[in-house]
Amino acid sequence: MVSSDYWDAEAARGYDSSSAAMFAPEVLDPAVDFLADLAGHGPALEFAIGTGRVAIPLAARGIRVAGIELSQPMADQLRAKASADDIPVTVGDMATTKVSGAFSLVYLVWNSIGNLRTQDEQVACFQNAADHLAPGGRFVIELWVPPLRRFPPGQTAVPFDVSDSHLGFDTMDLVTQQGTSHHYSRDSDGSVRYGASNFRFIWPAECDLMARLAGLVFEERYEDWKRTPFTSDSTSHVSVWRKPA
Ligand SMILES: C[S@@+](CC[C@H](N)C(=O)[O-])C[C@H]1O[C@@H](n2cnc3c(N)ncnc32)[C@H](O)[C@@H]1O
Repeated sequence: MVSSDYWDAEAARGYDSSSAAMFAPEVLDPAVDFLADLAGHGPALEFAIGTGRVAIPLAARGIRVAGIELSQPMADQLRAKASADDIPVTVGDMATTKVSGAFSLVYLVWNSIGNLRTQDEQVACFQNAADHLAPGGRFVIELWVPPLRRFPPGQTAVPFDVSDSHLGFDTMDLVTQQGTSHHYSRDSDGSVRYGASNFRFIWPAECDLMARLAGLVFEERYEDWKRTPFTSDSTSHVSVWRKPA
């Protein structure tokens, strides 16, 4: 059974507006440029495709894009924006679900591998990506670097957003690599809603090992989609592995 939290209808309905910053051209365009470049003549497969934030602009570049998505409500939101002919989506778990075709690019963005909360499932996800690649094809992930340098001894929580309308912090267990993002959102009537999402955090080196287990070869790693060099101060990474030709 998949360990992911399920993204329900309410989360799906509010996704595009609550993630508006991630749809901004200055955020999205470099990602689409990077992925279009690697896809070449495609086709591409997005794991955890969501509402199509990345897939829709990538398809608009003329690349055939398909997706796998666990949440039917998220897939429904995508379907309201793009037809099944334009972007076919298979509802299922990205660690195990198969779609037909051999892809030049499989990609998994915005920290979404962390939705799989066991090491076994994350290993299976890398294997599933490799299984869908044509020889010479690439697997790309975008993932944060666990902010362990922000945890002094005895501290288990770090804030990631403190504003008038939202208070967000992560708690992490450094032994089990389990984490939870806590969100306290203040509505206009002053009431406060609480929401939480769970994840398993992984270091880039663990990703490299999972890729190697899946028969993939490390190719490149950057801090972001603009190919900023990855350093010990980087808070996220875009990593590329290739299936040998
Ligand atoms: C942060 S959203 C990212 C969506 C989209 N890729 C984007 O960049 O906007 C994470 C997505 O992962 C999906 N997800 C979570 N666990 C999954 C799984 N095991 N298999 C496939 N999709 C999953 C969620 O339903 C959600 O749509």
